[in-house]
Amino acid sequence: MAKLSLLLGLLILLFTPSLSCPEHQKQALLQFKASLINATTTFSPKSPLALLESWNSSLDCCHWDMVNCSSRSDSRNVVALYLEDLVWLKEPIVLSSTILTPLFRIRSLTHLVMSWNQIQGELPGDGFANLTELVHLDLWNNAFNGSIPSQLFHLKHLQYLDISLNSFQGNIPKEIGNMTKLQHLILRSNKLFGEIPSSILNLKELKTMDLSYNSLSMEIPVDIGNLANLTNLDLNCNKLTGTIPSTIQDLTKLEILHLESNLLIGDIPSKLFNIKGLKGLLLGGNNLTWNNNAKIVPKFTLSELSMRSCGLTGEIPSWISTQKTLEILDLSENQLEGMFPQWLAEMEVGTIILSDNNLTGSLPPRLFNSQKLYALSLSRNNFYRELPNNIGNATTLGILTLARNNFSGKVPESISKIYGLYLLDLSNNKFSGNTLPDFSSNVQLQIIDFSSNEFSGEIPTNFSQETIILALGKNKFSGRLSRNLTNMSKLEYLDIHDNKIKGELPDFICQISTLHILIFRNNSLQGSIPICISNLTSLQILDLSSNLLVGEIPKEFGNLAGMIETPDGFSYFNGFGTNYYTIGTKINDMIVNWKKSKQGLSFDNLKNYSLLDLSMNQLSGKIPTSLGRLKALKLLNVSLNNFYGRIPASIGDLKNLEGLDLSRNNLSGSMPQSLAMLLQLTILDVSNNKLTGKIPIGSQMDTMNNPDFYANNSGLCGMQIQVLCPEDSSSTKPPEVERKETWFSWEGMVIGYVVAFFVTVAILYLTEYCVPVKPPNHRSQQGRQKV
Ligand SMILES: *[C@@H]1O[C@H](CO)[C@@H](O)[C@H](O)[C@H]1NC(C)=O
Ligand SMILES: *[C@@H]1O[C@H](CO)[C@@H](O)[C@H](O)[C@H]1NC(C)=O
Ligand SMILES: *[C@@H]1O[C@H](CO)[C@@H](O)[C@H](O)[C@H]1NC(C)=O
Ligand SMILES: *[C@@H]1O[C@H](CO)[C@@H](O)[C@H](O)[C@H]1NC(C)=O
Ligand SMILES: *[C@@H]1O[C@H](CO)[C@@H](O)[C@H](O)[C@H]1NC(C)=O
Ligand SMILES: *[C@@H]1O[C@H](CO)[C@@H](O)[C@H](O)[C@H]1NC(C)=O
Ligand SMILES: *[C@@H]1O[C@H](CO)[C@@H](O)[C@H](O)[C@H]1NC(C)=O
Ligand SMILES: *[C@@H]1O[C@H](CO)[C@@H](O)[C@H](O)[C@H]1NC(C)=O
Ligand SMILES: *[C@@H]1O[C@H](CO)[C@@H](O)[C@H](O)[C@H]1NC(C)=O
Ligand SMILES: *[C@@H]1O[C@H](CO)[C@@H](O)[C@H](O)[C@H]1NC(C)=O
Ligand SMILES: *[C@@H]1O[C@H](CO)[C@@H](O)[C@H](O)[C@H]1NC(C)=O
Ligand SMILES: *[C@@H]1O[C@H](CO)[C@@H](O)[C@H](O)[C@H]1NC(C)=O
Repeated sequence: MAKLSLLLGLLILLFTPSLSCPEHQKQALLQFKASLINATTTFSPKSPLALLESWNSSLDCCHWDMVNCSSRSDSRNVVALYLEDLVWLKEPIVLSSTILTPLFRIRSLTHLVMSWNQIQGELPGDGFANLTELVHLDLWNNAFNGSIPSQLFHLKHLQYLDISLNSFQGNIPKEIGNMTKLQHLILRSNKLFGEIPSSILNLKELKTMDLSYNSLSMEIPVDIGNLANLTNLDLNCNKLTGTIPSTIQDLTKLEILHLESNLLIGDIPSKLFNIKGLKGLLLGGNNLTWNNNAKIVPKFTLSELSMRSCGLTGEIPSWISTQKTLEILDLSENQLEGMFPQWLAEMEVGTIILSDNNLTGSLPPRLFNSQKLYALSLSRNNFYRELPNNIGNATTLGILTLARNNFSGKVPESISKIYGLYLLDLSNNKFSGNTLPDFSSNVQLQIIDFSSNEFSGEIPTNFSQETIILALGKNKFSGRLSRNLTNMSKLEYLDIHDNKIKGELPDFICQISTLHILIFRNNSLQGSIPICISNLTSLQILDLSSNLLVGEIPKEFGNLAGMIETPDGFSYFNGFGTNYYTIGTKINDMIVNWKKSKQGLSFDNLKNYSLLDLSMNQLSGKIPTSLGRLKALKLLNVSLNNFYGRIPASIGDLKNLEGLDLSRNNLSGSMPQSLAMLLQLTILDVSNNKLTGKIPIGSQMDTMNNPDFYANNSGLCGMQIQVLCPEDSSSTKPPEVERKETWFSWEGMVIGYVVAFFVTVAILYLTEYCVPVKPPNHRSQQGRQKV
């Protein structure tokens, strides 16, 4: 019998010498390829599917790239497809999830990798129900939405499930507990909410549980300690409440414990410090408390530690000195006091974030002889004295933020030897000196903030041509603007407000065509506004207020494309982005005059802002009608000048305008009725002009009823200032009671708008800890792009 079957097997081997993949599976794959080509050619005439070139119908599909077949002797079924990052175009293209349909006919699949493909739409549950053999499913970095289909949870062989960086919504269903073979569950960066189901505790094989960057709430399952095989537990950036379950200390194999940025309360369990293998412990950004008197002898050797806002007081805890392999240390937002410890300076940590504490003293020079220091953020403490002269020895430094301390003296010359420096924020200190180090060879240095110090001399221009952000405001710089500024040909943000710059506003400024934001507020610039500024097509914020400028507003300003439609692509967002090394080190908000007061606008939101502020100069002439084309403007301020003539009716076209200040000019005539079309308007000031006639009524104009903003004109009338207009007096007066009611509801509306405005400002100030990180696209980096 055995002999016979052996013989049979041998015969089969002999007579089917080279099995190829089943025809129906080949056809399914070819259909997938065809629909992919079909979908991409609508975006680009040349399809970029170079990776699928080997998928040729005349070849055995087992020999195609990215396809594996079974190695069993009796079948050559397709078992694995590695289809990551198939389409990559300059224009992001979007594929529909129906593109997957042909693949569901390949029921023998055990491995399916579909990451990085920008597929959108709901995941076809019925299709996946076919793939009962799946062991490994990787769909990360697409745009799938809708809920996670329940059929996924019936794939009982599944060991690896990664659907991170998509837009899945809804709850994590309790059926997840059915996938008892699962070892890696990665749901990071979706829109999941609700509780973590306790059935998840059935997944005894689980090694990785990554549910980070969702909106999960309620408590962490109390028996989480039952998942004894867990090595990586990442719940960062959710809305989890309650305390850290004490069973967590039973997870003896744990290497990564990320609980950062949730709403956890209670004490940090000291037994966590007994988990020997722990390497990453991130607890920051909760409402946890720490027993500052505990004598801690940690058994672990961490590489990452975050105890941001954990209520640490006293000196920087000395047990940290036992963590010899520490690469990232974040103790920001505590009440730590005392000096920067010498032992920490000697530890060779890569990222040190101690911002928002009450640390003091001078910085130990040893810190800058580090071979590893990459990011140092000490902003908002009480450090003082000069920076150590050997700062330039920290050649690995990329990010240095020292804002809001009391550092003084000159910036050491050696700092320009740090060739990798990318972000340098020295703002709000007492640094001085009339020459700055020569940064012109620091080609990495793109973000520079020296504002609010005591620097003097001419505006420094010795920065590299790669500079993107240069903030020099609130210093004592004087003299004229140097043409050398134009060497910074990639500059997007130039802010030199509150200095003593004099001379003409030169037209060479127009050569910096990348400028998005130009702020010269409060200097002594003279002459007229160069017409060529209208050529700066990206310019979205222009603040020339409080200078000595004369002449007219160039009518060409109506061509300022960046104020007609705010550009995105402020490269600060593209290149810099957010990653763990830069969070907590964000640079200062930009300060502008926003609706009658100074406001900070967060850099993260700059793309939403378009402002034109020419107030407090000696400008004259008529307000050009062409300004009505700047439809993206949120603020137009020409107050405190000598403008005359009528308010152009075209101002009513500025649909996004929230603040309009025309006060203290010589404007005459009546206010155009078109102002009633400004539905976003919350501040309107026309006081101190020669305006006459009826204040326009209707929509938002009915709420513009602060009499101060109409004062000192030549005969304005209207309900807003409770002055009856002659043309209305002939008709019957409305009864007194009714009128009072009307006034009341107007006030209600004003308050409503004010509240809404403060909400917006609060959002602007939100920190960015929970912005998920997209890693760079590896294939495109390798230059695969051929189109
Ligand atoms: C390709 O697209 C066209 C139009 O969208 C459609 O009619 C055709 O069926 C598609 N072909 C395949 C193979 O998907
Ligand atoms: C498939 O391969 C054959 C032989 O290598 C070749 O002649 C043919 O052009 C290929 N077909 C396609 C569609 O690339
Ligand atoms: C597929 O083939 C590659 C290369 O031969 C191999 O490294 C990989 O382990 C195979 N995958 C499966 C699931 O067999
Ligand atoms: C499941 O596979 C069969 C072939 O085995 C196929 O006919 C069917 O369409 C597949 N179901 C889905 C939803 O794709
Ligand atoms: C998913 O995305 C598609 C395409 O953007 C959209 O049409 C659909 O409404 C979305 N579905 C859900 C549930 O959000
Ligand atoms: C899946 O889980 C649900 C609820 O946890 C249970 O009722 C059901 O029997 C399970 N199904 C399978 C196939 O194990
Ligand atoms: C941990 O995993 C192993 C196999 O990987 C398994 O045998 C063991 O039962 C698991 N441990 C627990 C506590 O379930
Ligand atoms: C943090 O917890 C304390 C008491 O435990 C409480 O008073 C405080 O309001 C909490 N803060 C936040 C932001 O939840
Ligand atoms: C910071 O420390 C100084 C003394 O160095 C002390 O006067 C001050 O009150 C502290 N501030 C806070 C907020 O604890
Ligand atoms: C800078 O580093 C070099 C070698 O790494 C060392 O010899 C030198 O003393 C350091 N400079 C200072 C001022 O510490
Ligand atoms: C401008 O640059 C030139 C050459 O790079 C230099 O000689 C000159 O001193 C610079 N001028 C100012 C004002 O910085
Ligand atoms: C704007 O740029 C164009 C082309 O670069 C140039 O011809 C024109 O003179 C510039 N306009 C002004 C006002 O400088």
